[in-house]
Amino acid sequence: MTKFLSIQEAMNTSSGRVAIRGWIHRERGSNKLKFVTLRDSSNIIQCVFERAKFEEQWSEIDKLQVEAAIEIEGEIKADARAPTGFEVQAEKIVIVGKSDTFPIAKDQSVEFLADNRHLWLRSRKMTAILKVRSTVFGAIDEYFRSEGFYEYHSPIFQAVQCEGGSELFSVNYFDKKDVFLAQTWQLYAEPAIFALEKIYTISPSFRAEKSKTSRHLTEYWHAEMEVAWANFKDIQDYGEKLIKHIVKAVLEKNKVELEILGRDWKKLVPTVEKPFVRMTYTEALKILKEKCKMEVEWGKDLRTIEEEKLVALYDVPVICTHYPKKVKAFYMTEDPKNPEVVQGCDFLAPEGNGEIIGGSHREHDLEKIKERLIEQGEDPTQYEFYLDTRRYGSVPHGGFGLGVERVIKWVCGLDSIKDAIAFPRTMERYKP
Ligand code: 4AD
Ligand code: MG
Repeated sequence: MTKFLSIQEAMNTSSGRVAIRGWIHRERGSNKLKFVTLRDSSNIIQCVFERAKFEEQWSEIDKLQVEAAIEIEGEIKADARAPTGFEVQAEKIVIVGKSDTFPIAKDQSVEFLADNRHLWLRSRKMTAILKVRSTVFGAIDEYFRSEGFYEYHSPIFQAVQCEGGSELFSVNYFDKKDVFLAQTWQLYAEPAIFALEKIYTISPSFRAEKSKTSRHLTEYWHAEMEVAWANFKDIQDYGEKLIKHIVKAVLEKNKVELEILGRDWKKLVPTVEKPFVRMTYTEALKILKEKCKMEVEWGKDLRTIEEEKLVALYDVPVICTHYPKKVKAFYMTEDPKNPEVVQGCDFLAPEGNGEIIGGSHREHDLEKIKERLIEQGEDPTQYEFYLDTRRYGSVPHGGFGLGVERVIKWVCGLDSIKDAIAFPRTMERYKP
């Protein structure tokens, strides 16, 4: 049996006979020679076929098209003119899978690439992003496990809302009408802290977002955590350490990919090395007024444009805290010093990437929760299972949710969140 090396491993051996396999990334040929750039998950390499060595197979080799799958054996050597500095002089070829004319060529529209997403995944850009994505998921697991968290899972079919009813996706659940896809694990996570104390998950969340922005998906991956006995500062500290850990992992493992993406990775270094900027909502309004000449009426939520101006003043994420109660969810604790604001926080990423984490300390007063549910037009009797968390041995606690694609968009420097996931789902697109 032939022992195949990855293209990167073959280049690391740098000379001698190698066997590699992959897909044709580019090809050009003449009567006597065929040049193929071969691609596998590790890298690309130039391969040369001389007609004199392949008289019998030449007509097939000559016809090989982009994306055909082939196995090659030959001599590898350094060649400064080749795209990745090495070339393989082919001596043997097995054509494993021929390719029709590949629909994706240069300069295709965003729409065309989205329609052909299943093929576009093979591009160097998407391959690089998917590798960073894999690092990000691994780093999230690594971080929470290293802090002693248990991985815990909540249902996706749910019958209560947590983040406002307007963004719920209802589903046909047999003959039932009041079933939705999860917006968050939170209401099903809080009951579990009484068993496990520190829990996390990475799971899809669903939002019927009507907005067509570069940072909203209808299906996104949500890394969430919930901790018993935690105060508001603990929640912010966990969020800061998590983000530092993710960015550090990407800088350690994915410099090559960031370079392929044209991402200036030096801009990410302060996030790992410096403390994040923390400010209250009220302080944020003051800074916006003084430094950005933007007036926001106290009580209004920050809009994208205001968030962008604010983060542009810093090279690390901004943790904005103590928002007005009216603009935040029912479960956030009132600030003991000022009941008009709540102990909730948004982490705003640098370079105009917006909110990547939303979190809070959780209200423990049963009557206050009921009141606020009613204020938001909800029926508290539907929340009985959740309200039990406040009836039997309630403890201070809190948690947050991190939008994984938002983080990937930021670290990769992408224009749109749609490229942070293999098959993006938005208001307009659910195919392929
Ligand atoms: O701020 P959100 O709505 O908070 C919650 O869902 C809390 N229950 C989380 C918790 O405390 N366990 O959402 C959390 C994060 C946001 O900060 C954002 O990064 C991401 O989820 N997010 C989205 N990402 C992509 N597309 C969307 N439509 C998103 N909506 C929220
Ligand atoms: Mg939020």
